[in-house]
Amino acid sequence: MTQAALQFVTPLTFQALSGYPVQTDLLTPEADYAMGHIELARWADVLLIAPATANVLAKLSHGLADDLLSTLYLVAECPVYVAPAMNQAMWHKPVTQQNLKRLQQHGVILIGPESGEQACGDIGFGRMSEPTSICQQIMSESCSRILLGKKILITAGPTREAIDPVRYITNRSSGKMGYALAAAAVAAGAEVTLVSGPVALTAPPAAHTLNVETAAQMYATVMQQVQHCDIFIAAAAVADYTPQEGQPSKIKKQAEQTTLILLKTQDILAAVAALPNAPFSVGFAAETDDLEKHALDKLQRKRVNMIAANWVGREQGGFESDQNALQVFWKNGQHAIAMMDKAQLAEQLIHLIAAQFHKE
Ligand code: PMT
Repeated sequence: MTQAALQFVTPLTFQALSGYPVQTDLLTPEADYAMGHIELARWADVLLIAPATANVLAKLSHGLADDLLSTLYLVAECPVYVAPAMNQAMWHKPVTQQNLKRLQQHGVILIGPESGEQACGDIGFGRMSEPTSICQQIMSESCSRILLGKKILITAGPTREAIDPVRYITNRSSGKMGYALAAAAVAAGAEVTLVSGPVALTAPPAAHTLNVETAAQMYATVMQQVQHCDIFIAAAAVADYTPQEGQPSKIKKQAEQTTLILLKTQDILAAVAALPNAPFSVGFAAETDDLEKHALDKLQRKRVNMIAANWVGREQGGFESDQNALQVFWKNGQHAIAMMDKAQLAEQLIHLIAAQFHKE
């Protein structure tokens, strides 16, 4: 309860009605000894601020932390909901709307307000949503957070293999598929680590992103990060071969023909799936022919739990495109996802992965 809330209801009433202890102060001697506000924020699965006044929205949007509530908000890493309640004129003021927009951009989820008669006698928007409907919304969103607390490692984008200081071998991967999966996994409540090759995309802010360039760097980074992860998704188009040794100086144009010796890179997906405590491992198969045959071969040969196969080298879908279609295979099943935006497709794939992960 904030100081303003205490003007309306006493903590004792609140405690008696709710059956739970009430906290009001940032710096109480007992709580402070145990870093009370930090512990409280860590303990919560969800932070709901209801009613959220115009003053509270303004404070939170500017990062002020001068009481227990605003400090909790700054410390909280769980989903944060606000259920505003204020006079309709205050609600419509541009500054209130700007504060709200800023909070939403930082991931705060808005519930309400509703329109109706207000305590001051005005009629309009600003009434707090009914407590039961606030709870229902939070419960239904929590159910869609099917990977809450799970740790997911995702690779995305291409790799670059140096021929000399100015040239490299790469492929057409834009990273869009892997980044869409990272966003969908974050939305499903997962803690996401994204290992990305060089791309021109912005990673989801909630994902922990590690940038790499070569297949060897991607291998090393994945192996460092994979230990405590529950699910591994290999969406990167990793080079299968790398020049034997990158030349230290630019190769001069002299001979009519030249030969590059290429060495096989390490297969990251197969290496992860072969670990003693391997995470639930999902590979991709990028194919130009015999999609199902090659995908099933990769499922068995790399010993992964799931393979998402896509056509590449076609006009629609695959590399670079904003859209894609998938044929997903696992041990005793398969599922086709039709051509659609990679963002929606990623959501569907994450649901499929979560369903199989929870079954195994
Ligand atoms: O990035 P976009 O432009 O959005 O394009 C998306 C995509 C086409 C790149 C993506 O959907 C996709 O298919 N990614 C996998 C590309 C690929 O390398 O497929 P593959 O069939 O060659 O490899 C099979 C699997 O082994 C893949 O999961 C790959 O990440 C993995 N692999 C391959 C080689 C290697 N050295 N290490 C690996 O982990």
